[in-house]
Amino acid sequence: VISNVVYTDPLALFLSKTAEFVPQLGPRFGLDGNKVMPKNGGVESVETAIKMARYYGWKKKNIPDGKQEIIVFNNNFHGRMITVISFSSQSKYRDGFGPLTPGFVSVEFGNLDAVKAAVNKYTCGILVEPMQGEGGMKIPPPGFLQGLRKIADDNDLLLMLDEIQVGLGRTGKNFCFEHENIVPDGLILGKALSGGLIPLSVFITNTKLMDLAFDKGSDGSTFGGYPLACVAGVAALEVLQEEELAKASEVQGEKLKQSIMKIAGRSKHIKEVRGKGLFIGIEVKNRDAMIFCRKLLDLGIIVNDSHGHTIRISPPLNISDDETGFLIKCLEEVFLK
Ligand SMILES: Cc1ncc(COP(=O)(O)O)c(C=O)c1O
Repeated sequence: VISNVVYTDPLALFLSKTAEFVPQLGPRFGLDGNKVMPKNGGVESVETAIKMARYYGWKKKNIPDGKQEIIVFNNNFHGRMITVISFSSQSKYRDGFGPLTPGFVSVEFGNLDAVKAAVNKYTCGILVEPMQGEGGMKIPPPGFLQGLRKIADDNDLLLMLDEIQVGLGRTGKNFCFEHENIVPDGLILGKALSGGLIPLSVFITNTKLMDLAFDKGSDGSTFGGYPLACVAGVAALEVLQEEELAKASEVQGEKLKQSIMKIAGRSKHIKEVRGKGLFIGIEVKNRDAMIFCRKLLDLGIIVNDSHGHTIRISPPLNISDDETGFLIKCLEEVFLK
């Protein structure tokens, strides 16, 4: 095993490319660039973000260790390990797996007043998906991310964005936070980071914050930053940039969404269509999206449901005009016949 003890060329290249691809995070902590902590599955990097916020609360805000609180959101999905399921609002992820991890306060997604009300002297951070993927393909009201940024600044909290599902071009921008012209203090990426080929996720933050919280070996993972994963990561970032996949996602996504809205106008099954870029949800009236997913599978389209009631349309970012046309034809077949 070439573990993370050994520094390899692919690791160095991947870390520097990733750190530079992301705008300076947490600029209020300085402009010395970003640092990147590589892990494997996405949930591992979510846990790094949680550790970061807690440590910051303890070290910089003098919150007694063990009392730190992080604000999270109802219907969140950040993975399936113990700490993360501890603040899931879905019993299927949580029930029977106690004792659960304390230190999280969950409020309504999109509700800034609820966030303000949840802040107290123990709060150290906010952890949020800028758009909820598993939670029903939910897009928060305009101004939500800016509002979170302001609450974080006003109360000295770390704003951590989980862009594992919606980052890297999925919503028509390289990063979802660009839709509202903010930058978070910490960012979590996964899934598409290696082109979906090999487990690879990262937690990225301001250099000062990363250095504050983690010393050599105090966080890490044997396979985190494994050379093969880093080679895939470098290639995926290059393709994303060279093929301008965020722009492609914006353009194809808009076409697709317009067509789906037209189908929705003529279909008795569709309640709502929502999304940005190639992140589109079709909420169905009978609240059983899987029935329609199966019909689409019979026609050659692989889609999953989100939160039971919504079909998740999330095709590859390099989908062609012809493929988009085929997808629309299949949706017409299922929803209009
Ligand atoms: C927003 C979000 N966070 C975290 C995760 C967990 O990632 P992984 O399954 O790679 O641990 C997912 C997976 O779907 C996700 O969508």
